[in-house]
Amino acid sequence: MSTRVHEVYDVVGIGFGPSNLSLAISLEEHRENVPGNPATAVFFERQPAFGWHRNMLLPSATMQISFLKDLATFRNPVSRYGYVSYLHESGRLARFVNNMDFFPTRLEFHQYLEWAAASFADRVSYGTDVTEIRRPQGGSAEGPEYLEVEARDNVTGAIRVVRARNVAISTGLVPRMPAGMESDERVWHSSEFLAKYRRMNPADLRSVAVVGAGQSAAEITRFLYDSLPHAEVSAIFPSYGYSVADDTPFANQIFDPDAVDDYYYGTEKARESFWRYHKNTNYSVVDADVIKDLYRRSYDEDVAGVKRLHFRNMTRVREVKRAGDETRVLLDTLLDGHTQELDVDAIVFATGYDSLDPSRLLGGLDRHCLRDEAGRHRVQRDNRLVTTPELSCGIYIQGGTEHTHGLSSALLSNIAVRSGEIADSIIGSRPARDRGHLVAAAAG
Ligand code: FDA
Ligand code: NAP
Repeated sequence: MSTRVHEVYDVVGIGFGPSNLSLAISLEEHRENVPGNPATAVFFERQPAFGWHRNMLLPSATMQISFLKDLATFRNPVSRYGYVSYLHESGRLARFVNNMDFFPTRLEFHQYLEWAAASFADRVSYGTDVTEIRRPQGGSAEGPEYLEVEARDNVTGAIRVVRARNVAISTGLVPRMPAGMESDERVWHSSEFLAKYRRMNPADLRSVAVVGAGQSAAEITRFLYDSLPHAEVSAIFPSYGYSVADDTPFANQIFDPDAVDDYYYGTEKARESFWRYHKNTNYSVVDADVIKDLYRRSYDEDVAGVKRLHFRNMTRVREVKRAGDETRVLLDTLLDGHTQELDVDAIVFATGYDSLDPSRLLGGLDRHCLRDEAGRHRVQRDNRLVTTPELSCGIYIQGGTEHTHGLSSALLSNIAVRSGEIADSIIGSRPARDRGHLVAAAAG
């Protein structure tokens, strides 16, 4: 094991999903970031290679935002990292346009993200888990303050410690299982779906169940039904039917960059109203075409007189009993108040995610981060955590800011603009002589 603490970066990014990838682009394209004295950055990513929700890359799943809400376009429409550049470089621009569709498949969007990430390979340490952010021992009384970021190589176990003038925590959503349920080789969360599904022999999956009424649940139900023609497929969900995701134009404006200001500077009542009226743009809802797909399959079964797609609505899972390969699920159904038993070969909990909470990574530093009356982190408009004066380094978060920045915080909708705001804030806080030098150099 080796430990080095000599490297100092302007930004250390934790996680290299779309948010920090977009930040890497914003830093590179920043107007004050000219060659010779660029803002330096390194990113740590626990996956062995770039991957964006790989276990949900189901063949027919499409994006839930326009391809124009890519890593860069809303901030810099002429960026070379925009989706149109990717299509052009891939030789598919004309054919893409012929599709006349704003919503590419998730598989294609994944290829786009990989293409963009490849340009930053020299700044990303893959297969590396950040385990701690801390102040250097003995402080840094002389010169600018640094934080230390400790990362562990997942293969060799080697420890690397780097110094950061700013950190950008962008570690993503956290899978949520219902209380009392634990995942194993037969009990899966949707975030593990394809990896665990591929470990099974499809012939052994004769009865499968999917829990939840969100996009993940509906997509997995459709996938299992189509991929396992011999299997009974049960969809277990708490509502009467799937509810449609509102992606109509007026409602969709809540994901516009301007809506972040409306939410951030709005009254408490305004923020509540965002949630009351527009939660159905994203949570516990399903795209209309997927709902129609499922209903069509169910209706076709009625016509054929063969039933293997079962919708157990108004039903929640009370308990999962496991013994070897056997899995028995106890279900509470609201409709008749009875508890039913269902034996399955695998069950998928598509029960959603918790939002990013930086506390664990921040450890002892968290006590320098101020919180609101509800105990949530205070966050500046530029996504920097509000800290006590003793902590002068910037700690930025991307995700985990729904309480301050609104519904787009955990989504892709606003990442191009948001990462630009963070880059402005970080580069703006560099010593004035560096910036003066940079501006002069850029002008000359
Ligand atoms: P993301 O989760 O993508 O990346 C975080 C990264 O940090 C991960 O790669 C993780 O491995 C890494 N990491 C975590 N902890 C670490 C540590 N300690 N050390 C090192 N690395 C660490 N939104 C939208 O707007 N349109 C859409 O179409 C979709 N589609 C979609 C599909 C599915 C299946 C899900 C679950 C979610 C979506 N979303 C979405 C929402 C989703 O949050 C969003 O698309 C991005 O993933 C957000 O990007 P981030 O980089 O913030 O998180
Ligand atoms: P979600 O929208 O939060 O849905 C979770 C579902 O699980 C809800 O129906 C919830 O019901 C239900 N649930 C929670 N606990 C339960 C329990 N104990 N018993 C029964 N049901 C329970 O999560 P998601 O579907 O994973 O979506 C998360 C995000 O990923 C969204 O932004 C979504 O758009 C995105 N996504 C995108 C794609 C794509 O791009 N194609 C694919 C999948 C997901 P309640 O309403 O009662 O809580």
